Amino acid sequence: MSKKILVTGGAGFIGSHTVVELAAAGYEILLIDNFSNSEHWILDRIAKVCGNRIPFKHLDLRDANAISACVSSYRPDSVIHFAALKSVGESVQQPLAYYENNLTGTLNLLQAMSNAGCNQLVFSSSATVYGVPERCPITEDAPLDAVNPYGRTKLMMENVIRDVVTAQPDFQAAILRYFNPAGAHPSGEIGELPLGVPNNLVPFVAQVAAGLRPQVRIFGNDYPTPDGTGVRDYIHVCDVAKAHVAALAALDDSGVRELTVNLGTGRGYSVLEIVHAFQTAAGLPIPYAFVERRPGDVAECYADPTLSHRALSWHAEHGLERICEDAWRWQRGLR
Ligand code: NAD
Ligand code: WQD
Repeated sequence: MSKKILVTGGAGFIGSHTVVELAAAGYEILLIDNFSNSEHWILDRIAKVCGNRIPFKHLDLRDANAISACVSSYRPDSVIHFAALKSVGESVQQPLAYYENNLTGTLNLLQAMSNAGCNQLVFSSSATVYGVPERCPITEDAPLDAVNPYGRTKLMMENVIRDVVTAQPDFQAAILRYFNPAGAHPSGEIGELPLGVPNNLVPFVAQVAAGLRPQVRIFGNDYPTPDGTGVRDYIHVCDVAKAHVAALAALDDSGVRELTVNLGTGRGYSVLEIVHAFQTAAGLPIPYAFVERRPGDVAECYADPTLSHRALSWHAEHGLERICEDAWRWQRGLR
């Protein structure tokens, strides 16, 4: 009998790609979402890619009774928890909304799991928990210091989850710290749906290539990096999705109680390198201008992926070219 997986935030960017990978791996899935940052039609697209409809429940994790009833009746073997608000800038403007959604939602989910005897969790964390890294590549034992409300919600929830692991002998958790997920499914059916002006670089560049925005504003060209622009570890969203399938297997196979790993490629690219790679993928000129640094940005941030390779028997397969090609195919489909 196949394992039953509850996926929170499964209509979102990374969740939708993970649902596709889970279905391909033969898991039974229940997807939940409140569509605060996604659209209902994504479910049709997921069905198209999977070849069948994935069971879905419209549910807000802030509703403790609703999530408790859902977990108790579905009785999943594992939960993959993506649902969260994720904009750093918005979290500075609306900290209470972020603490309420990300903390209350996760606490309600953990309580519901505990009530129902569901003991396996994969949690979406972020490289943001490293704050301003002392050195790159970043290993998992680097100092943790979130520097904005969004990052603090991730760090707090990591600690809550570790406390649950300590308190409940049967509970297992995989905490995955994503670096910069980007790209889209190669089918062009699912991808990132930024509401309003994209905060993240790749969707912004894609919208410039599509003629929806006049130019890329490059935040700073005076960083201590080879070309002066910020360096990040961009990882294809399908690689991130596959890491979740690998994490479920790793928890089952190793029996380990808790594992915390980076999800990155280990290779950093500058903003200018991204713009040039996208230009090649799209075959179109991408105008850009250098502007002031964005407050809170660091010069460089890239992962040491060694532990993830060992613990998950997984590694990122796709490079920057594929990220840009797939992001461009998705963007063209949106027009
Ligand atoms: P996303 O916004 O595309 O997906 C999140 C989904 O969760 C959305 O569909 C949203 O509607 C849903 N959701 C939010 N709050 C909910 C609630 N209270 N109840 C039910 N559903 C709710 O984001 P994403 O890029 O797919 O990110 C997924 C996870 O990964 C998030 O936890 C995010 O913080 C984390 N993460 C993302 C990135 C990134 O760059 N995309 C990097 C590091 C970590
Ligand atoms: C990448 C680089 C910018 C936009 C953020 C969150 C992090 C995680 C991933 C959730 C930087 C530059 C960007 C633009 C630019 N999310 N840039 N012009 O800041 O590394 O990480 O998303 O957990 O928590 O902080 O990603 O895509 O915003 O920026 O020059 O219009 O592109 O300065 O160097 P970041 P990003």
